Amino acid sequence: MEQKRSSFTGKIGFVLAAAGSAVGLGNIWRFPYLAAKYGGGIFLLVYILLSVTFGFSLMVAEIAIGRKTGLSAIGAYEKLNKKYAFVGYLGAIIPALILPYYSVIGGWVTKYLTLYATGGGSAAASPDYFGGFISSTWEPIGWFLLFIGATALIVLFGVEKGVEKVSKIMMPVLVVLSIFIAVYVCCMPGAGAGLAYYLIPNFENFSIMTVVAAMGQLFYSMSLAMGIMITYGSYMKKEVSIESSVHQIEIFDTGIAFLAGLMVIPAVFASTGAAPEAPGAGLMFQVLPTVFENMWGGHIIGAIFFLLVLLAALTSSISLMETVVSILQDKLRWNRRLTCLVVFAACLLLGLPSTLGYGVWANVKVIGMQFLDLFDFISNSVLMPIAAFFTAILVGYVIKPQSVIDEVELSGKFRFKKLFVVMIKYVAPVCMIIILLSSVLSAFNVIKI
Ligand code: PHE
Repeated sequence: MEQKRSSFTGKIGFVLAAAGSAVGLGNIWRFPYLAAKYGGGIFLLVYILLSVTFGFSLMVAEIAIGRKTGLSAIGAYEKLNKKYAFVGYLGAIIPALILPYYSVIGGWVTKYLTLYATGGGSAAASPDYFGGFISSTWEPIGWFLLFIGATALIVLFGVEKGVEKVSKIMMPVLVVLSIFIAVYVCCMPGAGAGLAYYLIPNFENFSIMTVVAAMGQLFYSMSLAMGIMITYGSYMKKEVSIESSVHQIEIFDTGIAFLAGLMVIPAVFASTGAAPEAPGAGLMFQVLPTVFENMWGGHIIGAIFFLLVLLAALTSSISLMETVVSILQDKLRWNRRLTCLVVFAACLLLGLPSTLGYGVWANVKVIGMQFLDLFDFISNSVLMPIAAFFTAILVGYVIKPQSVIDEVELSGKFRFKKLFVVMIKYVAPVCMIIILLSSVLSAFNVIKI
């Protein structure tokens, strides 16, 4: 099928579309609980350092590869070097693994939005509510179905353009509301200790796991190492600056994650007086309702907040599903309706263990993890470092950094050229190997970190 490649109208269009994919549950749900788990301030520091060095370089490389080849991941890697085509395929598997469990969490958000919108917000503030909800069998499945169904319908009807318009309004409102909630939370009695925990790096909390987790989060949050930014790059006009676009996407993405941490972590301290004991996937859902409960107009603010989170999650899940659908369509030549249906059904099957893992299958563990954590681990801690490793090798040693630099310089000077070269050639490959080894060995309890 010959497809005409449309392009984004300009820099703003590109940045907002890429930020729509990048900003999602990763920032608002995943970042705060990882920050709480892996040492607070030290995690934040490591994350920001990685983001401006490693994340920046990899994102520039991916977007440049996309724009240079004018193709999405599989085709792009193939065109650059036949031997590296497998990286494109690897990149295609990752969104297929993320989307199902992403939609499970998306379902939880939908449930909470409905709860607040129908005046049931107070129930959510009771300590056992969240646990009761996720451990039930049918209800979470229903919300999961709704979320993945909505994503599939939007992808099927190709109304992403409309969704992009929504995200233009959503992003600024999300930023403003997050600042408002964060300021409120930080003024709560007892929040100061949480603020200190989150903002002041404590080097005693540092371990290699801090870096492993921060790196996994970076890939996830910036939608890297899975070909998505390559596809976006292929739609980018030559005169738009890659470098400054990446800076802007990073500011959006890291800014929203930072604010989410500022909302959640001090709130935990304010309500319990200490760091959360074993922060997990439920942290945001357990903590924020208690904040909204005591806030003036809290239920309305809660409803708006969960609506914004839902929209942010949808813009991301759409980009995940779109990637999977378009790859299958290209490779198998199925029509769009059939492809959407197959992807929808596959997601449903793959997502079920993740939701049941909190209830009837709570005792089923694979390498010590429940299914949701397992899918998260395989994609973020195993496959993404592998994909990033080979991308760095391909750019650093096969097509050479200069080819990316040339592409970036089509629209002006590449200011952080040296940083880029050092990152791609030396730091990235070594880091990826260390991260891969430490995450796999620790999962199998070979090493304790
Ligand atoms: N970056 C998105 C988030 O932070 C998740 C995502 C990952 C979306 C990969 C698309 C691709 O929520």
